[in-house]
Amino acid sequence: MAEVIAILDFGSQYTQVIARRIRECQVYSKVLPYNISVEELKKENLKGIIFSGGPSSVLSEGSPRPDSEIFNLGVPVLGVCYGLQVMGLMLGGVVEKSIHREYGHGILKFDVNDALFKGLKSPLRVWNSHGDRLIEMPEGFEAIASTENSGYAAIEDVKRHFYALQFHPEVAHSEGGLSIIKNFLFEICGCRGDWNMAQIVPEAIKKIQSTVGMAHVILGLSGGVDSSVVAALVHRAIGDQLTCVFVDNGLLRKGENTEVQELFGQHFHMDLRVVDAKNKFLDALAGVEDPEKKRKIIGGLFIDTFDDAVREIGVVEFLAQGTIYPDIIESMPIAGCPASVIKSHHNVGGLPERMKLKLLEPIRELFKDEVRILGKELGLPDNLLLRHPFPGPGLAVRIIGEVKEDYLKILRDADSILIEELRSSDQYNEVWQAFCVFLPIKTVGVKGDERTHDYTIAVRVVESEDAMTADWARLPYDLLQKVSSRIVNEVHGVGRVVYDITSKPPGTIEWE
Ligand code: XMP
Repeated sequence: MAEVIAILDFGSQYTQVIARRIRECQVYSKVLPYNISVEELKKENLKGIIFSGGPSSVLSEGSPRPDSEIFNLGVPVLGVCYGLQVMGLMLGGVVEKSIHREYGHGILKFDVNDALFKGLKSPLRVWNSHGDRLIEMPEGFEAIASTENSGYAAIEDVKRHFYALQFHPEVAHSEGGLSIIKNFLFEICGCRGDWNMAQIVPEAIKKIQSTVGMAHVILGLSGGVDSSVVAALVHRAIGDQLTCVFVDNGLLRKGENTEVQELFGQHFHMDLRVVDAKNKFLDALAGVEDPEKKRKIIGGLFIDTFDDAVREIGVVEFLAQGTIYPDIIESMPIAGCPASVIKSHHNVGGLPERMKLKLLEPIRELFKDEVRILGKELGLPDNLLLRHPFPGPGLAVRIIGEVKEDYLKILRDADSILIEELRSSDQYNEVWQAFCVFLPIKTVGVKGDERTHDYTIAVRVVESEDAMTADWARLPYDLLQKVSSRIVNEVHGVGRVVYDITSKPPGTIEWE
């Protein structure tokens, strides 16, 4: 039985980041509701418990509290931020309400001999984000670290194995954070660290089976990594109770429709319905130039088309979706930041409400690289798992202005040359995204003895960690030259190729 670290979730936006850090250490972690009962916890092979941070004030009435019996379980507990305050207060310490939130970096000075800080050198820059503060420790505790603002940045009761941190060790901006987590897992909880992502499969399958029962599940397959992994996982769990719908909206890249049919239909033998909606989408887009209008039309039509396909299938109870953890974080309002919509990403939300289906989101707690590992376990090929992201509105946002059939053909042909060249020069997996953009601008050129007046293709290749910021890829000149000359020579209608050297910000990755 896999050893488990239970993370009790008090509502912090970083809770899943803690879970991910622990998985990185080859230890299985489960995010559980903060008020889970001790009886439930006892069913696990529990090695330790972490109290996450959270937005509440422990001093407010009704603020979340864990079952107090947790402190009698005999397993180590680590409180983080709100977790420190709730632990401090419940065990008899004093917490003070503070008017100002401490937000940002602090310099942490600590006792290097402490198990939690083993292998680390004091001081460290750590990330704080908290309102209230502990001003008196509970009995049995001692302070093991301080920052300029707090004498109790880390506290411990070694006898009872209770530890707590005022800062967030899980975030990347906390120096040594991963080592602190590792020390908790291996030095304090005595974990073995012999878990790996493959072991997530049986548990995920069991969960899908018990949620779904005998009901029928529908999934919109896009050909991207997330929906493909969910398709493979749900199919493995419930077989023909899953129907996948692939909508060909006419805005796909070259060969995409065929690839999806070959892999999911012929190779995996899934019940795959391919809906040819090309004309419907192109008719609706005729004459439309505004990027947001294009997105709205495509989003709306996608839902209509999908809805019709589901009706044909009959009684369906669940909609499986490839929501992953970053999708959830991105759609959460961040305290203090007014939500600003730069581009409406149509593929989040809308569908389940309209169709009255229950949601099945089996990979919602995973990060992208974990989804890829899972996909590999399920037998999906690398060229799919390592695919660049592709926007829901497809090539429509890569044609500036009105979308037309002949523009689409030019764009598809140019794009497939770019991708082919990147793959054959081993650059494809080195960059975040690479694509062509069609510009309906005709420029003058000369081919042979003839003057030409043809369209322009912009090549966009970017490096990025998470699409929030990006920089243009410094591709070798020889490669750019080859891409350019192949596009101009092989794609009828293109007379000029330009390379986009704009970073994000101020630009965005896509052109629309
Ligand atoms: P931008 O262009 O905003 O893109 O820098 C960031 C990332 O999001 C993708 N993107 C979209 N994805 N629907 C999507 O599903 C959309 O409407 C959309 N617009 C941009 C983009 O490809 C990049 O990876």
